Amino acid sequence: MSTAMAISLVQSTFFSKISLLRHRNSLRSFALPIPFSSFSTSSALSEDKLHRQKWRQPVVSVLELGGVKIAKDDVVRDDPTNNVPDTIFSKLGMQLHRRDQHPIGILKNAIYNYFDTNYPDKFDKFDNLCPIVSVKMNFDDVLVPPDHVSRSYNDTYYVDPQTVLRCHTSAHQAELLRKGHTHFLVTGDVYRRDSIDSTHYPVFHQMEGVRVFTPGDWEASGTDATSYAAGDLKKCLEGLARHLFGSVEMRWIDTYFPFTNPSFELEIYFQEKWLEVLGCGVTEQEILKRSGRINNVAWAFGLGLERLAMVLFDIPDIRLFWSTDERFTSQFSKGQLGVRFKPFSKYPPCYKDMSFWINDAFTENNLCEIVRGVAGDLVEEVQLIDNFTNKKGMTSHCYRISYRSMERSLTDEEINDLQWNVREQVKNKLNVDLR
Ligand code: DAH
Repeated sequence: MSTAMAISLVQSTFFSKISLLRHRNSLRSFALPIPFSSFSTSSALSEDKLHRQKWRQPVVSVLELGGVKIAKDDVVRDDPTNNVPDTIFSKLGMQLHRRDQHPIGILKNAIYNYFDTNYPDKFDKFDNLCPIVSVKMNFDDVLVPPDHVSRSYNDTYYVDPQTVLRCHTSAHQAELLRKGHTHFLVTGDVYRRDSIDSTHYPVFHQMEGVRVFTPGDWEASGTDATSYAAGDLKKCLEGLARHLFGSVEMRWIDTYFPFTNPSFELEIYFQEKWLEVLGCGVTEQEILKRSGRINNVAWAFGLGLERLAMVLFDIPDIRLFWSTDERFTSQFSKGQLGVRFKPFSKYPPCYKDMSFWINDAFTENNLCEIVRGVAGDLVEEVQLIDNFTNKKGMTSHCYRISYRSMERSLTDEEINDLQWNVREQVKNKLNVDLR
């Protein structure tokens, strides 16, 4: 969800992440034709940087991700073409999906298991590809239109105009196809600027799957290549859903993604609700052609690991995945899919409202970035609760910010401090008039 109002849409947009790239008509233009700096791994520390760093929280300043050395200054810079905050940099090396005792890692391994059992030694697995990718990989290579909303600075974290934090694992499809892989799974952390509620967090994890067929595969079947791939895709993913959820009712929904045609979503009926499990489809011929695979056909899917893990492990709030509290971490063990999480305690929330006159540049994602920057994981939800335009044409928004720690009770003083800081930054950075 980007510019849409958060107003108790929480229900209807529950787990809306997966669908970000499926809307053909959600267009927004943006342009920041400012020169970008190169991706250097070493840079001299200026006086100014040294001064700023002294006051920042200590975070690891050089990371190694998928064999690439990354310094903080490569990712976070004071520059209008860069919108990556410190809080996002601090998540870059965490790789929850590579921890065998973490729900996200346990789920990844369970999916690997399904593929290993059903297609022994077939699928190549990648879970350590660098999340910093080119705009070309993230968007162009998978045919995301030039004016697609997901390319905007409001929705995606840009390191510079040519480089982003990947917003989906589809960013690696074309490169791996080009390198000759025909069966592969890519798991990784993905990044999106977004609103704040119990199912949305600016970093989450996805798994991508791709399988390529050659004419010999479909010719004997008596069906055309596309129907053959679509049939195989559905069989494979229905099996995966049963592997994870047991024998559940399922349905296929036709949809749109830029990279597949036809495109589908799989939903399962679980705990009395239809739950969107994944997006998938038959890969656009153009992607295969550009990767040197003429006369082939392929299928692809992408699934969000948090949304499935929240349901499978009964985890009520997406922030919990990042908790280092032993009362959370000790509840999960390697290979144990679907252990029900027992909440250790529910601490009281505290609500603070703030109203202001918005300007043309205002977006809810920008507001949420400020709130997260100040309150980190102490913010539970930011909700638009009132919205009106007066006779002069000025529009006022009132947002309710819910503060709640997963781990302890917050003091009034602490919350007032956070709220005061949020108000100051909203006023100064978003240039809105507080009411
Ligand atoms: N990349 C899509 C997203 O993040 C998910 C997806 C849909 C991946 C369909 C695929 C696919 O490979 O075929 O919303």
